[in-house]
Amino acid sequence: MIRLIKGFHDILPDETRKWGFIVRTAADTLERFGFREIITPVMERTELFERGIGQVTDIVEKEMYTFEDRGGDTLSLRPEATAGILRSVVEHSLLRRDAVLKVYTIGPMFRRERPSKGRFRQFFQINAEVLGDDSPYTDAEAIAAAHSIMANIGASGLMMEINSVGCQQCRGDFRAKLRDYIEPHLDELCPDCKRRYDTNPLRILDCKVDRCVEIAKQAPMIIDSLDAGCKEHFHKVQETLSLLDVPYHIEPRMVRGLDYYTRTAFEIIHGELGRSKAVGGGGRYDTLIKELGGPDASGIGFAIGLERLAMGLSDEDPRYARSMDVYVAILGKNAGNEGVRLVNLLRGSGISTETRYTGTSLKAQMKVADKVWAKKVLMLGDDELSRREVTVRDMQTGDQCTVGIDDIVSYLQGDKR
Ligand code: HAM
Repeated sequence: MIRLIKGFHDILPDETRKWGFIVRTAADTLERFGFREIITPVMERTELFERGIGQVTDIVEKEMYTFEDRGGDTLSLRPEATAGILRSVVEHSLLRRDAVLKVYTIGPMFRRERPSKGRFRQFFQINAEVLGDDSPYTDAEAIAAAHSIMANIGASGLMMEINSVGCQQCRGDFRAKLRDYIEPHLDELCPDCKRRYDTNPLRILDCKVDRCVEIAKQAPMIIDSLDAGCKEHFHKVQETLSLLDVPYHIEPRMVRGLDYYTRTAFEIIHGELGRSKAVGGGGRYDTLIKELGGPDASGIGFAIGLERLAMGLSDEDPRYARSMDVYVAILGKNAGNEGVRLVNLLRGSGISTETRYTGTSLKAQMKVADKVWAKKVLMLGDDELSRREVTVRDMQTGDQCTVGIDDIVSYLQGDKR
């Protein structure tokens, strides 16, 4: 047997209804907020992610699936959606057509992380971006959209954690303060963080190694280094979140694992998964579009992890329970042809219909009808066939009646209305 790749997973038929429900609810919610769908490839030039996400990030340094293709190009499976979306927006000059562009995409991402509960190497994201708008109202609206997706799906025990990571200017000042604080601890840091001290000290605040986490706990906080503009922006975001009734709290030590963020950053924390595994995250990026060759426009977006979201939802829920309108029990030797014709007629009339052609007993077929959550069973045996009738059983009440074969579609359609 050839097995699945480590950290990858199948979504089996028993899970796909829940999965589909999440995808549909997220898409409907985002459309209601004015987002339109964009679909970009799962693979891009490696350089895009290096430039977009940042060379000195865990994702780019350690987690990308990167390879040289047969033509000698260095390509990577996308570890996130934002860079690819922006590449597409810039390449097709979409911001020339719409000054403000709101797009979303839902699809698989790939990171070669160590697999654990809620952490996979292929995982799905619901990802949304608002481009060309730097108003703090938009930050709050993006956070509200993420919250609304979760609320419409019915996820519970959630908290929106927010922070501001400042602009390039505030970050320059903060980097200097951070280096001053870290310097006496330099020998205690992990080898990666020793290197990060020179290249990108902010990433030390995101390290998972115990001793680095300890040191980071006492480090200065970026929120204390915000300039007046960033402070005001952040204040307005909070005010608007309160106005919109979105529950939030400020997490001043949150820095996020991607380099492109400026000003607002946020994460959605799920009680069950713990603080180290957010269900979603996002933030503003005011220079990324330009860095990728586009206009000087800002953006804000977020991504919600579908697997993590699905973990918080029960497998059984009437909103995504399986159900068929009808199960046709074909009984007796002669009913086969009429049964096939009937099944085909029902399906063609928009009635979901399941059957088995293997000719087992009525008892066995009723079990199948139960398993597929059929609302009604139509029984077609030799007797019924001779009278051109079917016996209809309502699976909820147990009531039975007979209906002429030629009237069955209108009978069932009347039922559906
Ligand atoms: P991120 O925080 O790296 O942000 O990922 C967002 C979400 O994707 C996480 O909160 C988590 O639910 C899910 N996720 C990430 N890695 C894994 C994994 N290995 N296994 C399962 N789920 C995972 C971004 O990706 C940004 N691009 C979000 C964004 C969009 N920022 C601005 N626009």
